[in-house]
Amino acid sequence: MMKITTSGKSLSDINEDVLIVPVFEGETARDGTLAALDRLTGGTITRVFDSGELDGKYDRWVLLRDVETMAARRLLLYGGGSADGLDSLRIQRLAGAAIRTLADRGARSVAFLLTKNIADAASAQAVVEGAILGQMNGGLYKSNDKPKSQVEELCLVSESANGVDLDRAIEAGRCLGEATNFARSLGFEPGNVMTPTALAGEAQKMAEREGLECEVLGEGEMKRLGMGALLAVSRGSQEPAHLIVISYEPADAGSGELIALVGKGITFDSGGISIKPANKMEEMKYDMGGGAAVIGAMQAIAQLKPNARVIGLVPAAENLPSGRAVKPGDVVRSLSGKTIEVVNTDAEGRLVLSDAITYAISRGAQVIVDAATLTGACVIALGDARAALMGTDQRLIDELIRAGEQCGERVWQLPLDDEYGEMIRSEIADIKNVGKGTAGAITGAWFLKHFAGDVAWAHLDIAGTAWTEEKKPYIARGATGFGVRLMANFVLNRAASS
Ligand code: BES
Ligand code: ZN
Ligand code: ZN
Repeated sequence: MMKITTSGKSLSDINEDVLIVPVFEGETARDGTLAALDRLTGGTITRVFDSGELDGKYDRWVLLRDVETMAARRLLLYGGGSADGLDSLRIQRLAGAAIRTLADRGARSVAFLLTKNIADAASAQAVVEGAILGQMNGGLYKSNDKPKSQVEELCLVSESANGVDLDRAIEAGRCLGEATNFARSLGFEPGNVMTPTALAGEAQKMAEREGLECEVLGEGEMKRLGMGALLAVSRGSQEPAHLIVISYEPADAGSGELIALVGKGITFDSGGISIKPANKMEEMKYDMGGGAAVIGAMQAIAQLKPNARVIGLVPAAENLPSGRAVKPGDVVRSLSGKTIEVVNTDAEGRLVLSDAITYAISRGAQVIVDAATLTGACVIALGDARAALMGTDQRLIDELIRAGEQCGERVWQLPLDDEYGEMIRSEIADIKNVGKGTAGAITGAWFLKHFAGDVAWAHLDIAGTAWTEEKKPYIARGATGFGVRLMANFVLNRAASS
């Protein structure tokens, strides 16, 4: 875990291994902090700009060594792009990329200068989140690669006073960043390791650590309750399914509304009998990204202690074909009593979520937000920049959009008109689990809407955002933890405004 501190030290006294100084487009060695650094370094900053090596463009950087007039000795000038339109996401990416640039360069402690464009508390929080996310790497099971040297201490150097607001923002950033990395660490694991049982174990360990309640329902209990949809998905696998239930009930929240966060926890999705093509099937180990995000969000909530009642649910199962597997055309009875024609066994996420949503309602949930790597159609529509958002309550949707903008987990609302709902009418049962192939992200959401009923509900399709295919300057390839901060921020904001 990265240790994070603040300081108001002067530039020459900052004594971390490296001082990171963001540089934005249009800035010169005659501006503010850069001018001060230029004086301290005997005109080196002027020479760097003159050389054309640095222009403030994002991801362009210069590392100065042996700066004798500064205790830090090394200075990383890192391009942050245009100073206009700097938002949380851009600041996170700047901090993440700067930290990744220093990986394996023997920098144990770094100072990050909160220059005038990023001097407020929200920017400081973004720096912390970005640095924590940037610091994490994949490659878990490589025997010979020595682990990259990591930054262990981050000191935010603020030129203005170190207010309470700044400390609070940094603490929030630390909790949210760590929780996101925790969720990512679950997503990085291969399917043979991160089975439904292992996922439940991780949730239980986290709950114990953070003082949360965690129950794990096994297949016997789920069968007794009548969770025919969830169990149908798991039938083909040797790995037993679990329903993970984590609760956060602060004493002072009394009997306020209960918010349920529900995450798809398919630890491997082969498609089942409607089997997927081999190409890229290995990526389906991250089909538990929504579940991981819920577990991570519960960790952040436990640490940041909003005045709200929250229950996190993760239906965890493995979707495999076998002689026992659910087959196309099978009809199953869900916990809600609604019957489902399983036309395509690869549309399994909505099956496990439907029973989890009904269960959340039976536990008293008045607000439900689910996150799921639900459809390839969502990836086609929005790629990896935004998740799709749909739901029955516009106030809830607007709150989620705002929470996402705040932390850089951007979403885009799609419609849920009745015409789309008609696409999943079944001839034999109450509904079927797939439409006719068009509007796939929307029909997936419509399926879930049947189970949410009158409860305020919103669905995040994170199929495109839960995983990053190629490594980026600011983040390693792999699981992104998308949804952790969005859901946690949503709960924090709602608790603060009620
Ligand atoms: N887990 C997949 C969705 C997915 C696809 C996630 C690509 C991430 C990347 C989901 O279970 C699935 O297979 N959905 C089907 C639904 C279809 C059969 C209606 C899909 O999108 O093809
Ligand atoms: Zn599937
Ligand atoms: Zn799936």
